Amino acid sequence: MSASGGTVLVTGAAGFIGSSLARELVRRGRPARLVDDLSHGHMENLLEGGKPVAPFSRLDVRDPALEGLMEGVDTVFHLAAVSALPVCQSRPREAYDINVGGTVAVLEAARRAGVRRVVFASTSAVYESNHDFPCREDDPVRPTLVYAMTKKAAEEACLGYHAAYGLETVVTRYYNVYGPNQDMLRKSPAFVSYVVRELLAGRRPALHSDGEQRRDYVFIDDVVALNLLCMEHPAAPGGVFNVASGDAWSVREIYRVVQEATGSSLEAEYRPAARFWEAYPELSAGKHPLSAGRLEAEVNKFTLGSVFKTRDLLGWTARTGLKDGMARTVAHARGVLK
Ligand SMILES: NC(=O)c1ccc[n+]([C@@H]2O[C@H](COP(=O)([O-])OP(=O)(O)OC[C@H]3O[C@@H](n4cnc5c(N)ncnc54)[C@H](O)[C@@H]3O)[C@@H](O)[C@H]2O)c1
Repeated sequence: MSASGGTVLVTGAAGFIGSSLARELVRRGRPARLVDDLSHGHMENLLEGGKPVAPFSRLDVRDPALEGLMEGVDTVFHLAAVSALPVCQSRPREAYDINVGGTVAVLEAARRAGVRRVVFASTSAVYESNHDFPCREDDPVRPTLVYAMTKKAAEEACLGYHAAYGLETVVTRYYNVYGPNQDMLRKSPAFVSYVVRELLAGRRPALHSDGEQRRDYVFIDDVVALNLLCMEHPAAPGGVFNVASGDAWSVREIYRVVQEATGSSLEAEYRPAARFWEAYPELSAGKHPLSAGRLEAEVNKFTLGSVFKTRDLLGWTARTGLKDGMARTVAHARGVLK
């Protein structure tokens, strides 16, 4: 089977990024197999004319049946994960089981089936304790929140499988991804999709801290393009790559751009950082509650990724401007919410 035309398998395919990637792979004529347990994703993300865009298996990645689905597969994109930070923090064993154990299950099934390459979706959250910006891929990292700790452990498993078995693995560290199909309706939606949802519904969003916290945002189409490069590029295996725009925007700046795109004049209500995860009271209960300082640091976290390695080795840069990306995000959300 040729490397350029072989079958791809996408885990987490019913989620925001997995479904966008799956659709683009299918559009390009790649035979694809799609896997998701639908714990957080939505089948609607994958439907075209009432049918999934490619064969779909409702399966937990830890299920031994995954190995059978890997037969004849050339490339695996592993995106299945529990990604909401407060969910990981309040259910740490499940987060480790799925994000670490699930990744090892994917790697092992891929190794046994003779898959050529596995591209893993990690996160810029692994840099959460770092203070030198922009963060570079070879900076030492020491995350302390559950989500980032699981992703760091999963990264190590990917790199270990490359070193020990020669399975081609690629680690990609996404910064804040936004765009059409990001889940607006879940309990803890990402910041952009939350603000879009609230403004389109005519409600005032509740935001935290002073709104001056800045983060690096990247549009979904650019993330999909990076994944396609990672599938084939000879410099990718064994590498860790930031998926960043290299621009940090404050909450207030993003808010203005969403206001403009939605035509809303509603102002946000800013609350203390301590209330950020108040929908998860179990985190502040008991003798060892989540440290208020740690939560505040998370709310106020600055993020900015170095773009040089991904640009110089893979030839990728984020191309979509924030206003353009946000206009497309809002146009799509209007269709979903009407
Ligand atoms: N969206 C971002 O800004 C961002 C940033 C950094 C990293 N990431 C990573 O990218 C990946 C995709 O993110 P997303 O925003 O599309 O998240 P998402 O929650 O929309 O998609 C994840 C999908 O994985 C599925 N899933 C969860 N556990 C599973 C299991 N055990 N077996 C099979 N499927 C399972 C869910 O049902 C969901 O459809 C995740 O690994 C996430 O950690 C995302």
